[in-house]
Amino acid sequence: MRTHQNWWGVAVAALVVAWPAWAARPYRGGAVATAHPEASEAALRMLDKGGNAVDAAVAAAFTLGVVAPYHSGIGGGGFALVHEAKTGGTRVLDFREVAPAAATRDMYVKDGKVVPGLSTDGVTSVAVPGAVAGYLELLEKHGKLPRAVVLQPAIDAARNGFWVSPKYQAMAAMRRDCLRQDPEATRLFLTKNDKGEPDVPPIGHLVRQPELARTLQTLAKNGPKPFYSGPLAQAMVDTVKAGGGLLSLEDLKAYKTRTHEPLEGSYRGHRILTMPPPSAGGLAVVQVLGALERLRPKGMSYRDPEDLHLYAEAVRRVYVDRVKYLGDPAFVKIPMERLTSSGYIADLAGSIDPKKATPSASLLAPRENAGSTLKNPTDTWYDPASAPEKKNTTHISVIDKDGNAVALTTTVNYGFGSCVVAKGTGVLLNDEMDDFAALPGVPNAYGLVTGEANSIAPGKVPLSSMSPTLVFAKDDPKKVMLVVGSPGGSTIPTTVIQVISHIVDQGMDVTRAVGMGRVHHQYLPDELWVDRWGLEPATQAALEAKGHKLRKQEAWGDAEAVYSDPKTNLRYAASDPRNEGTALGQD
Ligand code: GLY
Repeated sequence: MRTHQNWWGVAVAALVVAWPAWAARPYRGGAVATAHPEASEAALRMLDKGGNAVDAAVAAAFTLGVVAPYHSGIGGGGFALVHEAKTGGTRVLDFREVAPAAATRDMYVKDGKVVPGLSTDGVTSVAVPGAVAGYLELLEKHGKLPRAVVLQPAIDAARNGFWVSPKYQAMAAMRRDCLRQDPEATRLFLTKNDKGEPDVPPIGHLVRQPELARTLQTLAKNGPKPFYSGPLAQAMVDTVKAGGGLLSLEDLKAYKTRTHEPLEGSYRGHRILTMPPPSAGGLAVVQVLGALERLRPKGMSYRDPEDLHLYAEAVRRVYVDRVKYLGDPAFVKIPMERLTSSGYIADLAGSIDPKKATPSASLLAPRENAGSTLKNPTDTWYDPASAPEKKNTTHISVIDKDGNAVALTTTVNYGFGSCVVAKGTGVLLNDEMDDFAALPGVPNAYGLVTGEANSIAPGKVPLSSMSPTLVFAKDDPKKVMLVVGSPGGSTIPTTVIQVISHIVDQGMDVTRAVGMGRVHHQYLPDELWVDRWGLEPATQAALEAKGHKLRKQEAWGDAEAVYSDPKTNLRYAASDPRNEGTALGQD
């Protein structure tokens, strides 16, 4: 009897060890993860119609812009990595917004101080949108399905409406005052409260966007031209100019997407491709993972305070590099080869004291070397206690049945972007200008400090944190194993790093990897953020004993990931349980 029990115990233990590989639902065909069920369903519909990963990702992107206007839309911009299984090649498309030609370095500064709200709220915060050019270029160059088919789910969603969810309510509450400033945004996104004032709509209220449906129909029929030089362009310019903003018809006509070589790194034998500048996110992913591999050659232990300390210290250091060097590569020379070299990463890892936290100010004095002329280092409107989950952006991960993959991160920046809807078009415009250093060294809405390299200039791309990332199978560097990305502004790279480490180091299934509590540092503020499910009290105490100042945050990020098992080719998709997304796949 006893022997029998022992055998049973061994069998259960073996099952537990083997479980992570097939804990989530497996799909034999394609799989997708997005931040909204309607977008995931739109993507799946494209796969079922014989479309590829690009058709699916673009359908999801257009749909997300309709049903989740608080994080993305055709008035925004983004980045995509597109991997073609047949050739093994990966293309990077950068369709991020650029500063209008009339933008100036100090446009948000008065009397030596950043004017609160000017770079986040209203027409003054609007950069030249790139999403339409980007989504449609992806479709034209890499998709299989007709434009009208791919845009149909978004058109239907705009016409028929979507119902207000708790997430919508939270975002609308955060941006209520901003939305109230714009009559079109008020009409579309708010409802009257008991006092007759525009307010957050009740759960279940249907948000219909008939003008946006017409705009999307125009794009489906005519492609991007009307958006950049036709009546849609004119409407956007008229709205922005009427409020005193800078966007011009010439800016829209001149808008061009950009292609880049993917930024390459590796982690424990897995090739990694991610987003190069003008994102700072991909570099952080490559540098931190590189440092962790050196610091812990046998792998990172899960939630071991010693390992968490090394992780936090590596992250702190790469965010210093961000301040010092990063901006739009078309405007500033970034020493990428040096920053990604094994010698540099070894030095970075070697500079970490395993016993105690390094004060951020000792690595780079705040405001100095960032090119700031500010006298008072406390001049900022950023509220460090503001919850990071309220910052926005969204990510789409897709792998199709043939192994083609898309990682697409897209944004209007802050919740509901600028809160300005171009009259008669339904186009909600971004506030991406806030991703520039309004004054080098002064934090933006994410509390993130960037330097002179990210100062404002006409036609320049604001520095981003968006980190769409592909991780490849160990024994086949051309076969995608994981597609991952997240919103969350400054926390995007650390969310991506932690998902990758959970899968590669801990062998976690993708669902758990995406759901686990998170830890974040960003150099300034000099705090280690721990999310609600982040760490046990004893672990927190051990980190505090090393000198980390912990700040508990409710939650952040919305990781969307698809994992393809290199051995079986079965796909597992995961949408962050912190939010309202869905992961779907084909049987
Ligand atoms: N707007 C957020 C980012 O690009 O990082």
